[in-house]
Amino acid sequence: MPFPFDLPLTSLTYMLLYLITFVTHHLAMHYVVAGCLLIVGMSVWYRSDEDALVIDPVVRVVRDWMAFALSMAITFGVAPLLFVQLLLPVHFYTANLLLGWRWMVVIPTLIAAFYLLYVLKSHWFERLSWWQRALVAGLNAGLFVFIGFCWTANHLVASMPDDWPSAFETGVLPLAILPVVSRSLVWLSISFVTMASLVTAQLAYLREGTATDEDLPQVGWLHWLALAGLGAFGLAALAAIGFSKPGFASIASGSGALWIGLGFVLWGNLIYLWHSDAIAIDRRWILLRLGLLGGVLFCGAVVREMIQVSSIDFSKAMVKHEEAGEVGGFTLFLVTAVVVVGLIILIIRWLRESFQAEETQIDPQE
Ligand code: HEM
Repeated sequence: MPFPFDLPLTSLTYMLLYLITFVTHHLAMHYVVAGCLLIVGMSVWYRSDEDALVIDPVVRVVRDWMAFALSMAITFGVAPLLFVQLLLPVHFYTANLLLGWRWMVVIPTLIAAFYLLYVLKSHWFERLSWWQRALVAGLNAGLFVFIGFCWTANHLVASMPDDWPSAFETGVLPLAILPVVSRSLVWLSISFVTMASLVTAQLAYLREGTATDEDLPQVGWLHWLALAGLGAFGLAALAAIGFSKPGFASIASGSGALWIGLGFVLWGNLIYLWHSDAIAIDRRWILLRLGLLGGVLFCGAVVREMIQVSSIDFSKAMVKHEEAGEVGGFTLFLVTAVVVVGLIILIIRWLRESFQAEETQIDPQE
């Protein structure tokens, strides 16, 4: 069986839960990071017509939704955080300890970045000149990139048990520039694809004061952003595998070929579904495109885990999984999970119904 399905049932359960929630965390986080970077670029683009920024449909939607998306990124981040502690108990905590205060700094940075998103939403932001807007959005984006870097540093240190004693003795982290930069480019590049996919879906399906029927036809240009993101993602992913410590050896197996091959096919289909501005704004492809993106991210997450598992002694961690699996409470976990997923579906339905009711009140002809 391909990885991770070759793992014992308990480890497989934690791993699948980790992988799925990691992908949902990334979907929401990408929206915020690419959204801030987009506002930087668009502030410069509209420098000679500053009012145009505020009414641009893409900027309007991301400004409106980024604070909510960040709260989703955080709540969806808690889930893989729980599972990574079960999956890699020794590695994750050792990385935290070795990073020390450098790890704790994530919290104040996240708080500042969160509040700054509300500044981006404010009328105060609208009154700024183009370069001041670019500066504020750039600061916000910089804070997010720094948080992403902290997670990357943590992940890399956790994958290098041989280097822990010297890092402890010298206080110098065993991080090299190329692995860090290539990993960072992987998620930064695909962020633009996620943001473009979500914004087109929002403009197609959401009518909550933000979007009108005239907006979607105007955002075909997003396909350039998505295509550039997909191209850079392909290159950065190859570089990140190559610069990782186990390198291409970690994926030189049937499982590696399967996940990379599947990821490649989905990536190619995504390129097709972004190849022109007409297809970018065609409602028929929007949901399929989101599904393909989820698939690419899942394949990427599996490959990321294959690299990590081959750089540490994972069999020792599997003994801990069995111990954790025997502690009990699984039925309670399952029941709670089913109730919560049901509640999420209900909340989405209620919200949709309330939006539709608002729409009918605004335009009784519909
Ligand atoms: C907007 C702020 C955030 C950004 C930009 C961000 C970014 C990232 C990135 C880039 C990674 C992958 C690192 C790598 O593989 O190199 C990651 C992993 C992860 N993030 Fe986030 N993250 C954010 C907030 C959070 C929060 C608040 C939590 C928890 C509550 C969280 C939980 C996780 C977990 C558990 C992982 C997997 C760690 C591992 O497997 O080593 N993230 N995040």
